[in-house]
Amino acid sequence: MNYFVKPGKKIYGEIECAGDKSISHRLALLGALASGDTIIRNYCTGQDFQSTLHCLAQLGVQHESSNNSIIVHGVGLHGLSATNSVLDAGNSGTTIRLLTGILAAQKFASTITGDDSLIQRPMKRIIEPLSLMGAQIEARKNNFPPLSIRGTELKPVSYILPVGSAQVKSAILLAALYAKGVTKIYDPFNSRNHTENLLPLFNAELHTENGWISLQNPATMKGINYMVPGDFSSAAFFISAALLLNNSSLLIRNVGLNPTRTGLLKVLHSMGAVIPLIKEYDIGNEMTGDFSVSSSELASITVDNTIVPSIIDELPLLAVLATKAHGLTIVKDAKELRYKETDRIKTITDNLTAIGIQINELKDGFTLKGPQTIIGGTVDSYGDHRIAMAMAIAGIASQEGIMIKNTECINISNPQFFTILNDILQ
Ligand code: S3P
Repeated sequence: MNYFVKPGKKIYGEIECAGDKSISHRLALLGALASGDTIIRNYCTGQDFQSTLHCLAQLGVQHESSNNSIIVHGVGLHGLSATNSVLDAGNSGTTIRLLTGILAAQKFASTITGDDSLIQRPMKRIIEPLSLMGAQIEARKNNFPPLSIRGTELKPVSYILPVGSAQVKSAILLAALYAKGVTKIYDPFNSRNHTENLLPLFNAELHTENGWISLQNPATMKGINYMVPGDFSSAAFFISAALLLNNSSLLIRNVGLNPTRTGLLKVLHSMGAVIPLIKEYDIGNEMTGDFSVSSSELASITVDNTIVPSIIDELPLLAVLATKAHGLTIVKDAKELRYKETDRIKTITDNLTAIGIQINELKDGFTLKGPQTIIGGTVDSYGDHRIAMAMAIAGIASQEGIMIKNTECINISNPQFFTILNDILQ
């Protein structure tokens, strides 16, 4: 589907976003391995989360929806059943990587794959640590899906993450639920820590000390009732819209504010954005809160490895914001962007160039001197939800509007995106 985004005047109103995608995946997976029910309230409405639920159903884990909740009927750590069909993770990197950690420890073999984008994404990063635990995983060209997993008994490891990937960390932690003894992981990148936050709520014994995460096995997990905070990565697009259009004022309620996710807020504060926090509270080990956003004059910024993991999903959007920031914005140390749903350094650079922006592609990021006029034109999402939404925000700040090709991918994370945007856009 193609969608034409018209230039907007201002953003005004109050919104809430559907539940966090990363947390929803983890709740479903941990809920499946727990005894009893796990109730996931305000779950992520995107297709990626459905991919996780669908794979779990193929493995014999039933769920039902009621009101705004999904109830996962846990089968216990050893209750998954073998399936003859290939597991389909769709577009979801979190589904394939986290589930592989679990499948590696089962008493049966399985195969998992995904769509055209997912089968191009690197899996060596999980295969290596899981193999150290004894896992038997074969991949296309030793790196890409489909993954053929022969379940086996696993042993614990001590592992220092070589990439700032929460999916790798979480795959190891889920495998560690089956490895007798203590598994230890050091994450020098401080990647998102939702798995660590949730495991103790499910009754698993997890400790964090001096950056080392230790998980004690054997574990018996019990289902929980959990209210998922709004997805900060979805809210980020509306925050940016309000910053870019003059005379805007937006209130955002119940957003996840876990510091391993909110690098964009930190960066925006340094750029001069007006985003006062109104209230902050802890729900289920996750900081959550309400804040308001007003249109702001922005200054340029340099983003490097000290902050990249906590802003990784928002960097395409930062490129759009940088078009209006005074000075040279530099994003470096962000090579991981090349391994996402698309090569996001290339797709954001190509798209911004197509609408009249001068942006310089680096091997691990980009530079952009602002302010520049976004003229408008035609761009392509290339099937990447975050690229499509970033271009929609560029569209409302453009002179002539932007035609975005292939916008259906927005449903991967945020099916309400255009409804919310059109509600608050004047
Ligand atoms: C995610 C981790 C990040 C992020 C992705 C979701 C997760 O990926 O980009 O959108 O839920 O763990 P990496 O672990 O590959 O950095």
